[in-house]
Amino acid sequence: MKKTISFIFGTRPEAIKLAPVILDLKNDPRFTVHICVTAQHRQMLDQVLEIFNIVPDVDLNIMKPNQSLSELTANAIVGIDNYLKTHKPDLVLVQGDTTTVFAASLVSFYHKIPIGHVEAGLRTNNKFSPFPEEINRVLTSHVADIHFAPTTLSKENLVKEGVAPDTISITGNTVIDALLLAKEMVKKNPPVISSLSANVLKNEKSIILITGHRRENFGAGFESMCAAIAELANEFPTYNFVYPVHLNPNVRDPVFRILGNKSNIFLIEPLSYLPFVSLMLRSVLILTDSGGIQEEAPTFGIPVLVMRDTTERPEGVAAGSVKLVGTSKDMIKKVARELLTNKTVYNSMASVANPYGDGKASKRIIEHINKFLN
Ligand code: UD1
Ligand code: UDP
Repeated sequence: MKKTISFIFGTRPEAIKLAPVILDLKNDPRFTVHICVTAQHRQMLDQVLEIFNIVPDVDLNIMKPNQSLSELTANAIVGIDNYLKTHKPDLVLVQGDTTTVFAASLVSFYHKIPIGHVEAGLRTNNKFSPFPEEINRVLTSHVADIHFAPTTLSKENLVKEGVAPDTISITGNTVIDALLLAKEMVKKNPPVISSLSANVLKNEKSIILITGHRRENFGAGFESMCAAIAELANEFPTYNFVYPVHLNPNVRDPVFRILGNKSNIFLIEPLSYLPFVSLMLRSVLILTDSGGIQEEAPTFGIPVLVMRDTTERPEGVAAGSVKLVGTSKDMIKKVARELLTNKTVYNSMASVANPYGDGKASKRIIEHINKFLN
């Protein structure tokens, strides 16, 4: 008999990283796929669903402007509870460490439905960084039944916390599957980035790409990151600093106030995944506090400066493709300047194999699910 897998997710990165698994499972005669989105993100989620042609069966539409963590969690729990009162899948699959992931795991547990966790075992061991993701993922690990760890280190983290080793499989990260799919789509049909002029896009490798959204960086962290970017833009006028600004108002306020009206800084709306991938391919350097971008950039040989004090993805730092620079203005400037002026340092960061996956994570996950359910 076919087994039913429910995917419950809500934000842009969850949708990107689950898309390859959804598409593969839909083509697999052993399974029926059911999709419930919380829409913790509205516009940024819809951008991804459209690209991969994924139509949710249920849309809880919970996003509120400038939502608080408690309000978001409460709304996600109530919405998912209603969903699982009427749908009884054989397994719920969640991905990552957002509030939707924690809420979906908890509610699935209340309904005694098995839970599979994709991208399990990432840890900083600092409960406030990233906030609230570290605690979301720790809690999820302790209610999940099967754990898809992207790397050996993430499996070790789970085992240290007492998760049974025979419930964990090392699969690689599905973000690489998604990225390779997107790269093919971009090659076949180059997307138009209408928010940037042809002038900005004309020179290969003249773009410095920036993103940022972490809650622990709100306030002083964002002020300082933006000041560093403003000063770098003055110091390196031949580069174009392109920043698709996250829709969170706590991000937009400092970014537009400090970085608006500078001739070589381009503040644009969040890009859909294919234009974003095509912009990454044109970039010489990425400054970010994003999790997913740290994992993607090494595939394209682009050095990443991570503007955070901790990372749950130390594999990239150890391999040499990523540097953790914190949010100090001076440190961000110093390391970026070195990369932009010293070819040897740049090339050593740009020529590292991607430690996060090989593009086959989704297939491995599906085989493990099949074994678990039979
Ligand atoms: C969320 C996740 C974070 C993840 C990030 C990816 C939590 C608590 N945070 O952070 O782990 O790394 O997504 O981007 O789970 N907004 C919109 N439209 C959108 C998306 C967001 O307007 O499509 C605005 C809304 O005002 C919303 C606010 O951003 O209230 C914050 O969204 P929320 O999902 O709570 O937090 P993020 O910072 O996006
Ligand atoms: N991304 C995108 N458009 C953008 C910025 C990022 O499609 O304007 C993609 C990026 O390639 C990566 C994912 O969104 O796959 C990362 O999302 P985000 O940084 O919001 O979340 P995190 O990974 O930190 O949880």
